[in-house]
Amino acid sequence: MRYSWTIELQDLRLGYGDTVILENITATLPAGCISVILGASGGGKSTLLRHIIGLARPFSGKILLGGKDLFSLPGKEFRLLRRRMGVLFQDGALLGALTVGENVGLPLTEHTDLPPSLVREVVLHKLALVGLADFADHYPSELSGGMRKRAGLARALVTDPPILLCDEPTSGLDPVSAAQMDDLLLDMKCRFPGMTIVSVSHDMASVRNIADHVLVLHKKNIVYAGGLSGLEESADPYLRRFLDRKAPRYSFGDDPRLTLSEETQKIMHQALDSRLERG
Ligand SMILES: Nc1ncnc2c1ncn2[C@@H]1O[C@H](COP(=O)(O)OP(=O)(O)O)[C@@H](O)[C@H]1O
Ligand SMILES: [Mg+2]
Repeated sequence: MRYSWTIELQDLRLGYGDTVILENITATLPAGCISVILGASGGGKSTLLRHIIGLARPFSGKILLGGKDLFSLPGKEFRLLRRRMGVLFQDGALLGALTVGENVGLPLTEHTDLPPSLVREVVLHKLALVGLADFADHYPSELSGGMRKRAGLARALVTDPPILLCDEPTSGLDPVSAAQMDDLLLDMKCRFPGMTIVSVSHDMASVRNIADHVLVLHKKNIVYAGGLSGLEESADPYLRRFLDRKAPRYSFGDDPRLTLSEETQKIMHQALDSRLERG
């Protein structure tokens, strides 16, 4: 690996239109490690990733990649820098009309004039790394959810990027496929030393498997940044709920609609019963 790029987030404030989704975001995602961004659904994890990959501009603050300020670069350098990032999107984001192999090769065929035989060789190599070398000529619809995510990972890695970003690589997978995905990310960490791996998750089991460094988002802010052991020992009530998978007791107040009158219930059940009797 020729590059070793740390991601630095400096006092970021970002969101959509007039809505602030995250603020006061200052953190370092070190090279050579797996950093996991953890937080509740809708908390802004994907939004933060979109900004790191340069798809959206923060309201204020900076994103430095290997010391370079992403949003102050001239157009050509900005595009080059963006290509240093491999991204596994939440659903794998494979194109249904292309084969798995064509999907994985896309970042190469789009940007280079490499001969097809060489592209094929690289594609088969990357597919082999995720256990899918025999599926190059299948279509995404012929693959399971876990296989599609693995193919998405092969595509994210096809250009040997120094930075790999994964959005919920294990969500929606059964526990075995999820553990397989965790193993693959650990495998990539060993195979590509120096690569900066960032994974977004709300899956504590996966975090415990893979994380060297954890960033927890809550109420628009970072509520924890550090190692896994520090997180496990935390006494913060929000973090404890996340770690112990506990919800605060939900209160519906004293809404009168919480009770349904016996009369209404009786009429409803009689109507349903007579409907069933009529067949
Ligand atoms: N394109 C968008 N335009 C406006 N609001 C958005 C957009 N995408 C996401 N949001 C809002 O931003 C918030 C954070 O979303 P997201 O980053 O997807 O959360 P997470 O990935 O943590 O589940 C949510 O309230 C969501 O509704
Ligand atoms: Mg998301």
